[in-house]
Amino acid sequence: MQLQIRDLCFGYKNRPIFDHTQASFDEGCLHVVMGPSGSGKTSLLGLLDGTLQPQSGSVLIDGKGINSKDITADASDGNAWHRPTFSRIWQDYRLIPYLNVEDNVLLPLEVRRKQAADSDARTAMLDLLDMVGLAGRENEMVADLSGGESQRVAIARALITNPDILLADEPTGALDEDNTRLIANILATIAHERNAMVIVATHDQLVANTADRVLRVHNLKLVES
Ligand SMILES: Nc1ncnc2c1ncn2[C@@H]1O[C@H](COP(=O)(O)OP(=O)(O)OP(=O)(O)O)[C@@H](O)[C@H]1O
Ligand SMILES: [Mg+2]
Repeated sequence: MQLQIRDLCFGYKNRPIFDHTQASFDEGCLHVVMGPSGSGKTSLLGLLDGTLQPQSGSVLIDGKGINSKDITADASDGNAWHRPTFSRIWQDYRLIPYLNVEDNVLLPLEVRRKQAADSDARTAMLDLLDMVGLAGRENEMVADLSGGESQRVAIARALITNPDILLADEPTGALDEDNTRLIANILATIAHERNAMVIVATHDQLVANTADRVLRVHNLKLVES
């Protein structure tokens, strides 16, 4: 599976962000996107998952337009192409403050009408909390968590659906060095062991050090560094 940006132009009103930009991203690879604040990293993630529309150019998934109708149908017979699933870790977490940790993490399954209450889902949820260093915290209200704890709940929530493509926006922005290492290693594991495509926007050199590829937003382009 490959995600490609082809000759993409994007901007807000009078502010150009990308100008005839090209890039490609692969499964099994941890990509890091760096660049100054305001250079367009969050915008890039929105373009990649199709929530933002380029002014021109395209975002292609295995050669198909990200928002085109031919990729919305899920494969019902074995031969049809399977639309890769996306998950996003938001820069501002976007947890639901009046739900506890468990219900926040299980929410993506409920939205997809999978049985969030079933024991497999619950086991997966508890495993993920353990993985992000929050074992035993499932009953706490997220409004009572620290910034770094909230961020780790948001990471667990993004992983509960086992996405093919994980887009992570500053996923270690609120974390200390130990937790940054923990999360960087988890992101690498998701890419290497689950063969996911992981794309991380970050300022964090520790995260960049674990990446397979580092790209930079520079002069309205994405350049390899
Ligand atoms: N909805 C919007 N309307 C207008 N301008 C926007 C909008 N979203 C972002 N921008 C502008 O586009 C530029 C790029 O924003 P973006 O959030 O993509 O940057 P970023 O690289 O993620 O920055 P940071 O490192 O601070 O998170 C910024 O100058 C921002 O002010
Ligand atoms: Mg950003």
